[in-house]
Amino acid sequence: MRTLAEFEAAARERLDPVHFDFFAGGARDELTLRANETAFRRLSLLPKVLRGNSKRELGIELLGTPTSMPIVLSPTAFHRLAHPEGERATARAAARVGAIMIVSMGATTTVEDIAAAAPGGSTRWFQLYLQPDPRVTEALVRRAERAGMAALVVTVDSPVFGGRERDDRNGFHDLPSGVVAENLRELPGGEPGRAADIAMSAEFTWEHLAWLRGITSLPLLLKGVLHPEDARLAVGAGVAGLVVSNHGGRQLDTAAATIDALPEIAEAVGGAIPLILDGGIRRGTDVVKALALGATAVGVGRPVLWGLAAAGEDGVTRVLELLREEFDLAMALCGAASPSELTPDLVRTYS
Ligand code: FNR
Repeated sequence: MRTLAEFEAAARERLDPVHFDFFAGGARDELTLRANETAFRRLSLLPKVLRGNSKRELGIELLGTPTSMPIVLSPTAFHRLAHPEGERATARAAARVGAIMIVSMGATTTVEDIAAAAPGGSTRWFQLYLQPDPRVTEALVRRAERAGMAALVVTVDSPVFGGRERDDRNGFHDLPSGVVAENLRELPGGEPGRAADIAMSAEFTWEHLAWLRGITSLPLLLKGVLHPEDARLAVGAGVAGLVVSNHGGRQLDTAAATIDALPEIAEAVGGAIPLILDGGIRRGTDVVKALALGATAVGVGRPVLWGLAAAGEDGVTRVLELLREEFDLAMALCGAASPSELTPDLVRTYS
């Protein structure tokens, strides 16, 4: 397969249509879902020439960790719906290409097994939602720490579940038997790790974040920030990084496309902390545009699931390699030798 779109087509053929819809779908009319991709297409590149960039460096450092490329795996739940090897296969692929993997709180493999699947592999971060019972949040944090996760990514765009009408129509509200959100087992007061156990709660404020900072020395990133005021508050709250994200269009429909929201956030943050943008990254040129407009790195969600469904570990590896190859080529054609040479003057909107 030669493109991420071909991986999506292959995944559609292989997956149970109900699970395909769960992966592919967004909230309500799916306007934000589509806008994430179309907003990239509206942007044009103005390449620079004669830059002598035959030697290019794609790697960057994120929170002190060197990575082979400015592309991370965004957290997505339930990888065992895509492939029996689930998150283990994803972790091995991430390690093969040297990319940071953000493990979802809704992983269908324990963090211990994910760590063991690719020991000494690339860095992994753990994503979580603050839980109504602080003992549950703390237990998750301790488990992530013990398993060697290098940072916590707190997803804050989900005070409640977005209305995903495909899932409602399909009656998809829980996992098939044998597939369990494994990291939610054995939590205080907790039961078995059903999909419904991933609690979301609208009660949380910046103060709860301060509490979380106080119970762990792991760096905290916030995922799901779109408003520049929130970005400023996050810097003030001492977070280590932001994931500029609308949850792949799965939460608030008609929320801004992430690439449209990025410039204001980059301005608000002024380089104080790294910004990771996710949503709609499907081509190497998308990565170039995001970095040019202020992202330090990008995240990919669904394309990883398409690779996993199509061909397990090899499929995810190929998806990540394809993006890296396309990104390298696009950088070469823009006259840039490294991500830091991707600057806003390379991007224009003509309409
Ligand atoms: C997600 N996403 C997500 N985010 C999160 O913080 N925790 C999670 O458990 C999940 N689970 C999840 C499942 C599925 C099936 C999808 C498609 C997405 C959101 C994800 O991290 C990311 O923000 C988007 O997927 C990025 O958009 P693209 O790359 O899918 O367009």
